[in-house]
Amino acid sequence: MADIRQQDMTADAATNPQQPAVIYRKDYAPPGWYIPKVALEFMLGLSETKVTAHLTLQRNGDHDRPLALDVDNVLPDSIMQNGQPLTWREEGGQIIVDGAASGAVLTIYCTVQPDQNTTLMGLYASNAMLCTQCEAEGFRRIIPFVDRPDNLSVYTVRMQGDKAAFPVLLSNGELTESGDADGDQHYAVWHDPWPKPSYLFALVAGDLVANRDSFTTMSGKPVDLAIYTRSEEDSARTGHAMKALKDSMRWDEQVYGREYDLGVFNIVAVSDFNMGAMENKGLNVFNTRYILADQDTANDGDFDGVEGVVAHEYFHNWSGNRVTCRDWFQLSLKEGFTVFRDQSFSADMNSAPVKRIEDVRILRAAQFPEDAGPLAHPIRPDSYMEISNFYTATVYNKGAEIIRMMATLAGPDNFRKGTDLYFDRHDGEAATCEDFVVAIEQGAGLDLSQFRLWYSQAGTPQITTNLSFDADSGTVTLTLKQSLAPTPGQTEKKPMVIPLKTALIDADSGTKSHEDILVLDQAEQSFTFTGFTAKPVLSINRGFSAPVTVHSPSDPAALAHLVRHDDDSFARYEALQKLLTERILADVAGASDTAIADADLVALFGALLADERLEEAMRAELLTLPSENFVTEQQAVMQPLKVHAARQALRTLLGQTLADGWRAIYKRMASVPFALSGAAKGARRMKGLALAYLVAGGADDAAQLCYDQFAAADNMTDRQSALMSLASLDDPLREKALSAFYDRYQGNALVIDKWFSMQALSTHPDCMAHITALRGHPDFTLSNPNRVRALYGALAGNPAVFHDPSGQGYAMLTDMIIALDATNPQTAARFIPPLGRWQRYDDKRGGQMRAALERIRAVDGLSKDTTEQVVKSLG
Ligand code: TRP
Ligand code: ZN
Repeated sequence: MADIRQQDMTADAATNPQQPAVIYRKDYAPPGWYIPKVALEFMLGLSETKVTAHLTLQRNGDHDRPLALDVDNVLPDSIMQNGQPLTWREEGGQIIVDGAASGAVLTIYCTVQPDQNTTLMGLYASNAMLCTQCEAEGFRRIIPFVDRPDNLSVYTVRMQGDKAAFPVLLSNGELTESGDADGDQHYAVWHDPWPKPSYLFALVAGDLVANRDSFTTMSGKPVDLAIYTRSEEDSARTGHAMKALKDSMRWDEQVYGREYDLGVFNIVAVSDFNMGAMENKGLNVFNTRYILADQDTANDGDFDGVEGVVAHEYFHNWSGNRVTCRDWFQLSLKEGFTVFRDQSFSADMNSAPVKRIEDVRILRAAQFPEDAGPLAHPIRPDSYMEISNFYTATVYNKGAEIIRMMATLAGPDNFRKGTDLYFDRHDGEAATCEDFVVAIEQGAGLDLSQFRLWYSQAGTPQITTNLSFDADSGTVTLTLKQSLAPTPGQTEKKPMVIPLKTALIDADSGTKSHEDILVLDQAEQSFTFTGFTAKPVLSINRGFSAPVTVHSPSDPAALAHLVRHDDDSFARYEALQKLLTERILADVAGASDTAIADADLVALFGALLADERLEEAMRAELLTLPSENFVTEQQAVMQPLKVHAARQALRTLLGQTLADGWRAIYKRMASVPFALSGAAKGARRMKGLALAYLVAGGADDAAQLCYDQFAAADNMTDRQSALMSLASLDDPLREKALSAFYDRYQGNALVIDKWFSMQALSTHPDCMAHITALRGHPDFTLSNPNRVRALYGALAGNPAVFHDPSGQGYAMLTDMIIALDATNPQTAARFIPPLGRWQRYDDKRGGQMRAALERIRAVDGLSKDTTEQVVKSLG
């Protein structure tokens, strides 16, 4: 492995032998050889699987370059062509095969050890099940191959194994043959008629239980659906996923005119998985977390997560599989578009305004910090060392925002014309982001020349607004300025095209006028509006029409006016978030008098608590304080503990002064029976929030109230919201409830993950000690990514603990990253970004964080994944 890496180096990296080679987008060249046809044979075993690959070779163009196949962690036992052995040599992550002939069939024999594979990439074992994960570059861990997405092949897969160990044998496409084989073995042959890149290959073998259903497509073709899990118990929890699958299939027909294209659609749920799920053609593989859900074990967020991820992977069948990516720099072509599609689907299935707010919340929590830190990159990156590091909130979530802006600029009918053209023109091809933009331009009739900057410029545009009123002419002038700070490798930035949905709200009546989409495409621009007798209030970036930050002159009265009157749910939410953020920041700065007065804020909350027109989910969304991370992001020098204290104090104030209101709504919501309807989910959310405010307000019976809800709950949402509030209290009932929860769910990995997270996310004074102890709990293991995320994701997401002045939070995360990097580098590297923001903290904290990064960098044999993130974070 070390050899391969050394040879892989470009002049660039050669200056530092520790650093992996950099791959540049500008260097793209088509492959020298294609492999149009692949026949694979697997003799399955957990400790050893024998693979025979028959590859039909096709030289691409007129050249005499030898066949080069990508490899990682596996080397051929032998290579044959027309009955003759061929020689080969290793060279920089590839093998060079001598004498390979175009048109010939190359046969490669390999042996892999699935149960030794802790990376969860390639072929690996998870609880006696064999499964694969090939995106992005995992296929080369199974056999040497032209392992890049612009090499499309038709696959036939024969798999054979022990009947008892592997009663279920699955691969892509459709089953063409199956039967008994030697001894206690059996076999199955799968054929996928759709040419696909190797990253979409999948194979699963194990003792699995199927939940079966069927779907008839819009042209009347039947599709057999199955969701495979490891037990009858788990299988009983797949109903929600199955419903989501059928809803997604129908939705893609109705909204995008896209029909499913095989007679089978299989999903397998796996406990050990690096990411959420994978869209392998006809055989999606899922993290159990995004399949299993029932009333007793999943909360409402989990149910929504299942629905959204099932839809996401299903939608990839067109946006990703039928039209795939030319190279990994184009990742957002499939991921940004598919996130946009799954967001639109979930908005249609649930409350669209609430969904929009949630999506913006995720973008701001995960993507804005990325855009403002050392790992900032455009949605179409220009270079990478390890592509796994680019499955980011920028590529996914900001990518979705860029598609959304094109849809906004085009309007729904024209956008559909653009996507129709895209799918029709590029079906069966490996396309680029540029291909997508051209199709939208031509199909929708737009000029996106300047808009393309969204693909190349990193960073979040900052907009400032100024609204002036001229009484004589009755004219209102809105002046907008945009700026974009430098990001790594990009010092000069050009003005972007920014569609801003805007309206003016009468300062008295609250009536709206001049609703429009203003397109800001210069550094500074003014827009005028006539017919005013008084200065109105500006409502801008309604619906969050652009992924930007808007700075307006501080005006608490105007914001409060928007909270009361704006008819755009997002704008209303935004106004209140701004008021609350300013209030917390003013408190930290010791300047509370510059922000909204307590009495006014309480009155505003009181009005929202009493507003009968609000749906409960939206009420809860409005009344939830901005996160600590969001508030600290607004500071020049981040002060996590001060922000934590100020935010807690505000929760206490609101909890105390409105105690009667919280209690009344709590009682009202508690009487709503369990259902998965939007109304019932909203009620549970409001109930959990009211309870949290009562606890924050120091209600005498706080702990008992939590415990009673916990004990009486008939669903996980109520059980978890009660336990979450209780986990922060220093009360004997806390321990009682936590151990009852553990005892009840011991053996259910996904629920035990919650048990770890809740304790690590608490505001209990001993939280750090709790986390330290949980690391040594018998149920804690580094080999399961969900468990690692449950504990350490929560630690990194609990600012008051993570940024504890002792530096213990950083040290714990660092110890884990170093240990995990040795077995699962991909998951280890995903924990670097929280340490990477060191430049935004004071010297002491920043120094501790930097020292943590240095400690990781000094590790011998550190993976390419973690090295890239650490080196970039150190700057
Ligand atoms: N393509 C997958 C998705 O977005 C992402 C994914 C799943 C992935 N597993 C992975 C990416 C492993 C990198 C490595 O749906
Ligand atoms: Zn995806």
